[in-house]
Amino acid sequence: MTKQKTILSGIQPSGKLHIGNFFGAMRQHIRMQEEGDAFYFLANYHSLTSVNNGELLEEYTRDVVLDYLALGLDPEKCTFFAQSDVPQTAELAWILGCLTPVSLMEKGVSYKDKIANGLNPNIGLFTYPILQAADILIYHSDLVPVGEDQKQNIEICRDLAGKLNRAYGSELLKIPEDYIVKNVATVPGIDGRKMSKSYDNTINIFAEGKALKKRVMAIETDSTALEEPKDPDSCNVFALIKLFADKENTDEIAGKYRAGGYGYGHAKKELLGLIEGYFAEARDRRKELEKNPDYVNDVLREGGKKARERAEQVMEPIREATGLFRSFKY
Ligand code: ADP
Ligand code: TRP
Repeated sequence: MTKQKTILSGIQPSGKLHIGNFFGAMRQHIRMQEEGDAFYFLANYHSLTSVNNGELLEEYTRDVVLDYLALGLDPEKCTFFAQSDVPQTAELAWILGCLTPVSLMEKGVSYKDKIANGLNPNIGLFTYPILQAADILIYHSDLVPVGEDQKQNIEICRDLAGKLNRAYGSELLKIPEDYIVKNVATVPGIDGRKMSKSYDNTINIFAEGKALKKRVMAIETDSTALEEPKDPDSCNVFALIKLFADKENTDEIAGKYRAGGYGYGHAKKELLGLIEGYFAEARDRRKELEKNPDYVNDVLREGGKKARERAEQVMEPIREATGLFRSFKY
């Protein structure tokens, strides 16, 4: 029997999850739990780069767990856990950091992007890709399904794994293949920039009622008059409609844009209905799960235990090879 591939991915619990996260990442994670030995985690150490409020971080973490479970992640089929339950990750990140030239981090586009958009330029944010590399390498991962925006971080990870192996022994870390989720364009936010928790431009997966309507109605459009023909391909509302509607419906709406007499208000109402329908079942499931907070704890405890065991197997030979003195074993 061939060994199953280890699939690994993480998501930051640094705010409510949005439809960009869903189409760019979560949907693939849920699909891929069927295809290999999948490890999915809440990147809460990473969230500390932008969230400095303990209560809030805990709340976001629980929310993300509920979101994933409601959307179909099955803890029987994958290992679902919190990054902070695997301290070996931080340990490996330090060692990798000592092999990382500052100039490599200075090329980080995601850091530049984040500070250009108002995030606090702390050292955690600057060295974020090193911790991400440790997340991946500590499980000897084969495949890392992430959105296009994470491509550079995966390249940095491969680069750092090579550096550690060259310095200390070629078998210590496995170099993962990158697995960029194709055919998902970056989902635009309501202001047209990349939808992101950090930019206050999101539509949350589980928003509902008035709050959801308000967000959808706030999507920025140009000022073409209602009766004028419009170009669907340059419209943020249409970019979102395409994600939810089937091909036939998408073509029909594109036709209405081009014909004129169809306003952005109409398109927004269409989108609102589509979002409500698409997540209706998951929304009900989430409400059920919310009633049982112990279940979330149980899932994370079990997942954390499995992840820690795997991480320790990878970490132990690295401690030895790097000459780090240890008077105890876990
Ligand atoms: P955010 O930018 O909201 O903080 P994260 O950086 O935590 O989101 O991203 C979590 C996952 O969701 C990543 O794999 C990322 O590629 C994906 N993702 C985030 N925003 C988008 C988007 N607007 N379009 C497509 N995928 C996205
Ligand atoms: N940087 C990722 C993001 O913003 C989250 C993440 C942290 C991650 N560590 C990871 C993704 C390891 C994949 C693998 O989405």
